[in-house]
Amino acid sequence: MIRSVVRGNGAALPRRIMKNADFEGMVETSDEWIVQRTGIRQRHVAADDETTASLGEAAARAALDSGGLTPADIDLIVLATSTPNNTFPATAVEIQNRLGMRHGFAFDMQAVCSGFVYAVATADLYIRGGLAKRALVIGSETFSRILDWSDRSTCVLFGDGAGAVVLEAQDGTGGIADRGVLAASLRSDGVHKEKLFVDGGPSTTGTVGHLRMEGREVFKHAVGMITDVIEATFAEAGITAEDLDWFVPHQANKRIIDASAKKLGIAEEKVVVTVDLHGNTSAASVPLALSVAVADGRIKKGDLVLLEAMGGGFTWGAVLLRW
Ligand code: UT7
Repeated sequence: MIRSVVRGNGAALPRRIMKNADFEGMVETSDEWIVQRTGIRQRHVAADDETTASLGEAAARAALDSGGLTPADIDLIVLATSTPNNTFPATAVEIQNRLGMRHGFAFDMQAVCSGFVYAVATADLYIRGGLAKRALVIGSETFSRILDWSDRSTCVLFGDGAGAVVLEAQDGTGGIADRGVLAASLRSDGVHKEKLFVDGGPSTTGTVGHLRMEGREVFKHAVGMITDVIEATFAEAGITAEDLDWFVPHQANKRIIDASAKKLGIAEEKVVVTVDLHGNTSAASVPLALSVAVADGRIKKGDLVLLEAMGGGFTWGAVLLRW
């Protein structure tokens, strides 16, 4: 059977780093509160010339380089983002153009913080269905553009950045020892819309709007939803937490990551945490975390890796793959 195997990966971050202390003159907060409640120490913030498209392009080029590939080798781009450059066309098509690609097809995927997990699961289906041979799967966000910088309950939490992987069709046996995407489980439930949303849009206000979140409410649901979808993925693959080499969760809050790992019985040393470096970068957080753990030598070829995310919608999901 065909498997979607990771051929390369990469990341890109805005030049400017904002430390927690930089918020102290802007809103009533402190480095101590932010670190204790979230684990965040810094985040990158895009300058005017840095956009979802430019960061996504840079991450895509890094992923292509790491796999020894060029844009000519790609026939599908799936971009996970909730902060596109324009309402339309899809920013994925803009990235396609920036890469000099006149072939293949590209589209955006909007599942907020779960976007990258949704995008990997989607690209895997296109590859296994024979519509694509090599897909660039990108998570790129500039949440700094939709933050209310006077709202301390949200502005300290988010950051900008992009990460990407190249998935390639390769032959597999159909067993758990195969490299590539092995199982996925996706969920959504719109009843929770008001807990995390942007208060503008083309069809309602005609404006871009600002992010609004009832953080405590999101927190209350997060661990249960995350563990449910991961247990479904384990069941589909016929594995347990002990079989995992690495857990790469969405990076929203260190307390959510720790509580989920504990409930699932995933050992602390297998958990990749980058929320301290990047804050919550929504759809970019999982591929950014992957890029850190691959670059420092933790994630290696053949390792069993679990990706997970939960966010606005609510949407949530998990993907199990062998690197
Ligand atoms: O990526 C999508 C998914 N999103 C998430 O997973 C986020 C989930 N939620 C969270 O991570 C947490 O709920 C937060 C980090 C957002 C907040 O932590 P919390 O422990 O749930 O705090 P809280 O909202 O219950 O607020 C506690 C106190 C409040 O003051 P009072 O009412 O106790 O007087 C807040 O007003 O902390 C206050 N507060 C702050 N204080 C200093 C809220 N934001 C800040 C701040 N600095 N930046």
